Amino acid sequence: MRISIIGSGYVGTTIAACFADMGHEVVNVDVDAEIVNTINSGRSPIHEPGLDELLENHSGEALTATTDYDAVLDTEVTFLALPTPAREDGSIDTSIIEAAAETLGETLQAKDGDHVVTTKSTVIPTTTSETLAPILEAASGKTLGEDLHVAMNPEFLREGTAVDDFLDPDKIVLGTDSDAARKTLHDVFEPLIAETGAPVVDTGIEEAEMIKYANNGFLAAKVSLINDIGNICKEYGVDAYEVADAIGLDDRISARFLRSGLGWGGSCFPKDTAAIRAAAREQGYEPLMLDAATEINDRQPARLLSLLDRHVDVADERVAVLGLSFKPGTDDIRNSRAIPVIEGLQARGATVVAYDPVAADNMRKQFPEIEYVDSPEAALDSASAALVVTDWPEITALDAEFDAMSTPVVVDGRRAIDRRDGIVYEGLTW
Ligand code: UDX
Repeated sequence: MRISIIGSGYVGTTIAACFADMGHEVVNVDVDAEIVNTINSGRSPIHEPGLDELLENHSGEALTATTDYDAVLDTEVTFLALPTPAREDGSIDTSIIEAAAETLGETLQAKDGDHVVTTKSTVIPTTTSETLAPILEAASGKTLGEDLHVAMNPEFLREGTAVDDFLDPDKIVLGTDSDAARKTLHDVFEPLIAETGAPVVDTGIEEAEMIKYANNGFLAAKVSLINDIGNICKEYGVDAYEVADAIGLDDRISARFLRSGLGWGGSCFPKDTAAIRAAAREQGYEPLMLDAATEINDRQPARLLSLLDRHVDVADERVAVLGLSFKPGTDDIRNSRAIPVIEGLQARGATVVAYDPVAADNMRKQFPEIEYVDSPEAALDSASAALVVTDWPEITALDAEFDAMSTPVVVDGRRAIDRRDGIVYEGLTW
C-alpha cells in the first residue's frame, strides 16, 4: 500500500518506520523541515530504541519525508498523527489536527478516486466523524461515503518500547463506518496480522476513539488503586509489594501495573485522563473513579515528602533527587513526579542536587536553578537526605554509595532500594 502520515512526532515517526518495515511505501509529511531532513538522512528525530535502525534501513526507499502535502496525492490512505494537547482545564485541544485536516482536504481536491483518512491521534469520541470528517469533506469537495472515507485507528505505544509495541501488538483496533475504509485498513495491517496473529477489533469509529481512553484510563486507575491500597498498607506497616505479588496471582487482576509508589506521569496518562474527564462532564456525567484516580496520583509526591519530614528538616540542607524522567528508559520529563517533588523540596528551603542518566538537560529547562550532577555518587556526597523518584538501573544498583551522605535518610518512591542497616529508610507504600 502507499501510505501517507501527517505529523512526524513520537507516534508519526514510529508508525511510518514500522509501516515501511511491513513492506508499505510510506511518506511522512511534517511542517518542520529539520525533522524531514533528519528522517531522510536515516536518523530518528526522537529517541526510541530500534527506530534509528528502521529509519536507516528504509529512509530514501520505502520511507520518505517531506513538508509538501501534495505527496499524499500518490497514496491511498492518510494517517493523522498530530498532537492533541490538553488545554488549561484539561479538555482536549484539537486545533492542530483540525488545521491538518483542512490542509489535507484542500490537497485532496486534486486527487481523483477514493481516499481514506484515518485518525491516529488520541481524540475524544465523535471528533473524527463530527469534527474532522466535515472539515475534510468541505475542503476536498469530495463526498463522505463515496470518494472520501474516514476511520480511527488508536495506538497503544509506550515510551521506550514503541517500536516493539507496534510490531507486536496485543490488539489492532480499526474503527470504520464504511466497507472501503475497513478494507483499506485491513490491507494496511495485513502483513502485521499475518506475522503476529494479533486479534483485530473491527468496530465503530466512536468505539475506537473510546477504546484508547478506556485503555489508558483503566491502566491509570489500576496504578492509583494499588497506590490507594499501598497507602493503607503504609499506615499499618504492611509491605504493599507483598500484597501486590499475592493478588497479582489472581488472573482477573494480573501482576502487571501493580507497582505502587509515586504514580503515573508522562505525556499520555495525565493528558488522556484529563481529556476524557472533561469530555464526560461536558456530556453531563461525573467520572468519579477517574477523578479519584487523578486525585490519588496527585497526592503521592506530597506523601513522599511527608515521609522525609518525619526524619529530617531539610531547610538549608543538601537533598539528592535520584531520577528525573517520568519512568526509566526515556529522557521525557513531561508530568514527571520529580517536578512536584523538587517543588516541595524548594518550598522547604532545601538545596536540591539532581541526578538522572539522560533527563537532566530536559529538567534543567524547567529548574535551571538546581544543581545537576553526572552520577548518583556526586548527588549523595554530603547529602542530608536522598529521594528516589525514578527506578533507573543506575539507581536500583546503589548501596554503599549511601554511606557518603552526611545523614543517610533515604525515602524511596519506586521500590528501587533495599532497606539495610546504616541507612534510615522509608518506602512510600512499604
Ligand atoms: C502509556 C500506555 O501504557 C500506552 O499504552 C499509551 O499508548 C501511552 O501511555 P507510557 O505513558 O509510555 O504508556 O508509560 P507506561 O509504561 O504505561 O507507564 C505510565 C506511568 O505509570 C509511568 O509514569 C509509570 O512510572 C507509571 N506506572 C506504571 C506505575 O507507577 N506503576 C506501574 O505498575 C506501572
